[in-house]
Amino acid sequence: MCGIVGYIGPKPSKNIILRGLEALEYRGYDSAGIALVDSKGGQVFKQVGRVNGLTQEVEEEASNAGLAIGHTRWATHGGVTVANAHPQMNSDHSIFVVHNGIIENFDELRQRLEEAGYTFESETDTEVVPQLIDYYLKQLPSFVAAFEATLRDVRGAYSIVAISTAEPETLYAARLSSPLVIGVGEHENFLASDPSAIMDHTKKVIYLEDYDVAVITKDKVDIHNLKEDTHTSPKIELLDYENEKALLGDYPNFMLKEIFEAPAAIRSATLGRAVVEQNMVKLGGLEGVLGQLKYIDRIVIVAMGTSYYAGLVGEYLIEELADIPVEVQLASEFNYRKEPFSRSTALLAISQSGETADTIAALKKVEDYGVLRLGIVNAVGSTIARMTDAGVYCHAGPEKAVASTKAFLAQVTVLLLIALHLNDGRSKRFRPLIEELNELPAKAQAILDHTDEIKAIAEKYADYRDFLFIGRHTGFPAALEGALKVKEISYLHAEGYAAGEMKHGPLAMIDENFPTFAIATDSPLLEKTYSNIQEIKARKGPVLALATRGNKAITKFCSDVIYIPETEPETQSILQVIVMQLFAYYIAIKRDNDVDRPRNLAKSVTVE
Ligand code: G6P
Repeated sequence: MCGIVGYIGPKPSKNIILRGLEALEYRGYDSAGIALVDSKGGQVFKQVGRVNGLTQEVEEEASNAGLAIGHTRWATHGGVTVANAHPQMNSDHSIFVVHNGIIENFDELRQRLEEAGYTFESETDTEVVPQLIDYYLKQLPSFVAAFEATLRDVRGAYSIVAISTAEPETLYAARLSSPLVIGVGEHENFLASDPSAIMDHTKKVIYLEDYDVAVITKDKVDIHNLKEDTHTSPKIELLDYENEKALLGDYPNFMLKEIFEAPAAIRSATLGRAVVEQNMVKLGGLEGVLGQLKYIDRIVIVAMGTSYYAGLVGEYLIEELADIPVEVQLASEFNYRKEPFSRSTALLAISQSGETADTIAALKKVEDYGVLRLGIVNAVGSTIARMTDAGVYCHAGPEKAVASTKAFLAQVTVLLLIALHLNDGRSKRFRPLIEELNELPAKAQAILDHTDEIKAIAEKYADYRDFLFIGRHTGFPAALEGALKVKEISYLHAEGYAAGEMKHGPLAMIDENFPTFAIATDSPLLEKTYSNIQEIKARKGPVLALATRGNKAITKFCSDVIYIPETEPETQSILQVIVMQLFAYYIAIKRDNDVDRPRNLAKSVTVE
């Protein structure tokens, strides 16, 4: 959740670290800090709030040291204060540490250190790390030995980077269940929790694996795996990432830009995969496991947040088109339950970032079961992409705004492609759906062309405190996603419900102050949804309906109607969600919220 960046080389590191932190700020943004070290000693700058609050002070007062680390924080242990911001230090401020993750046994370690005479300045779990390194340095011959001894004592999930005034030319880094990537330059090296922080400088990277400890100087990277006790020669990979796509352009924020990338996201997800001329679906990422796929009789989808809701849409699609039973579980629940799991079950992890801790843990849980592990991932080269046996990339491009938008559309598109691939041309739906997938970007664009109308309606609803989103079939998970968007960026109460469930509880909340966003696009179930809308109207609840263009009848009994183009039932949720993204966006803007960085949230949740 936090962002880490480091540099060792001949250039003044401060600017590299500041720019890197800005690129990483979407990961965590409640405080930021930098430590620099050169032969004269160390300097630390920390600040509550955004990175830009740190810029002026660092630019003016920081030395031109060639070694530095920086951090943007998303608080876990201890409030948002300067003392709790990273880098954390040992008592004489000679060792500086930044950390992403959680140190589960920090309390026990802290007690041990306090008994040994150490005093603590922060409430963080991280502070035990520099203190413990300090403790071991007094007994062991080198910094690396003290660093490794510390890591052996620490339980939890982490990426940790440390520097010391005693070694002004070396970065020390370690990873366990939290990403770290080394950027390899010419007589300089970089380090980051996310390649976006360093990709302006180099495209050559080394991904650290679990239990790796890296000692990095400007000309050398040495990696020692603590578990295997091996020194591996680092594997350099080339980043396949277009940074330009992560730039804002003329948009006021990333969320709007990413919503407007809907047509491109759907197109990239289908490009070369849904081939109308040959009436086929080609998924290169699954080719290596085609033999195994034939024997799969159950799919368990694991994911979190928006990716989980995409998975719920996928459940309808795969079951209906490929006739394979699907179960969707929140990875955080899946990880701590016992259930029968046979080898003919495939585990399918869905993740935009490929770094969500719970989803990674789900893949780890089945490591020894011999089951096929598949992934639908957006971030190329991420941990989940590398852990799975096979998978399909979303190709939606980098997503920066915390609330996921275009990635959902790409995930559902990919799930539909997988469903069709597993169906292998057997169903009558095959041909119309391949054709529709190619039409869909234009239909998404048609919705975006009516943004002003959606904006006007959203502004009309922006003063309500509560919202209900209802839908049936794939419109149900779409409703859940619509409600999540409102919660995330508007901070208003919103709930998603299956329309048929209204009479079983939610109807009790309805009155003139509780509007419902009803997904009522054309489907065989439309009349049933009409009945639910009538029941809400009878209780004076305002209803904003989402209908298929051409449906005039609905205007008679709904307060407002937003239309989407006609599409196949299997692709409706994609278009529905674009409207709900815009709806939530304009409510949040009207309420003056920071849509890219909503309070208390982070883009990539790398702790459980
Ligand atoms: C965070 C993000 C959400 C995202 C979820 C799962 O909560 O704010 O937008 O849906 O994590 O992330 P993933 O990267 O695994 O899709």
